Amino acid sequence: MHNLGILLSGRGSNFIAIADSINAGRVANARIAVVISNKADAPGIANATQRGLNALVIPSKGKKREEHDREVVAALKQHNVHLICLAGYMRLLSPWFVQQFPRRILNIHPSLLPAFPGLEAQEQAFAYGVKVSGCTVHFVDEELDHGAIIMQKTVSVLDTDDERTLAARILEQEHIAYAEAINAVLGGEFEIAGRRYRRKTV
Ligand code: GRF
Repeated sequence: MHNLGILLSGRGSNFIAIADSINAGRVANARIAVVISNKADAPGIANATQRGLNALVIPSKGKKREEHDREVVAALKQHNVHLICLAGYMRLLSPWFVQQFPRRILNIHPSLLPAFPGLEAQEQAFAYGVKVSGCTVHFVDEELDHGAIIMQKTVSVLDTDDERTLAARILEQEHIAYAEAINAVLGGEFEIAGRRYRRKTV
């Protein structure tokens, strides 16, 4: 059984999708050991509490990045977390944090990286006029929205779309992609050559 740690800052729909996927058996051999928010008022952390999960608020406000990261890492280690899933966690991890969990931190981003990293990726893509966008699940390294890509799903941009409808269709794909990527990584049958993540053929 693998222990997952979820870090979030807001709505938490990706966390909910992961939790539901575990309950439905779409993610095998995993349990959510702890959910941590840096914001006390994040709806995602309220949901984690309602579900009876270990839900912690570790406020980041007024703390230096690494000072906050040390508290978060201590909590993750205390709960024997094997894989960390960033799910709308609005903090850049310090290099020290990333080094504590090599190839054990995942993030989901609402664009086809390397296009449109950073905030409001769906709005950036829409305004740029792309015809295809989507989402990316990737390992976290020391740069923003940058590590090796595990999985991408595409979404067509329709003439009738606005930023909101596009973001909503991307979000549906995020929820599917994150569970699939967690399953793949926990399965352990992969290799990373340079930036290229590949499933190993057996
Ligand atoms: C998602 O769009 C995710 O890709 C991005 O932040 C958003 C979080 O949404 N990293 P939610 O809190 O999971 O609903």
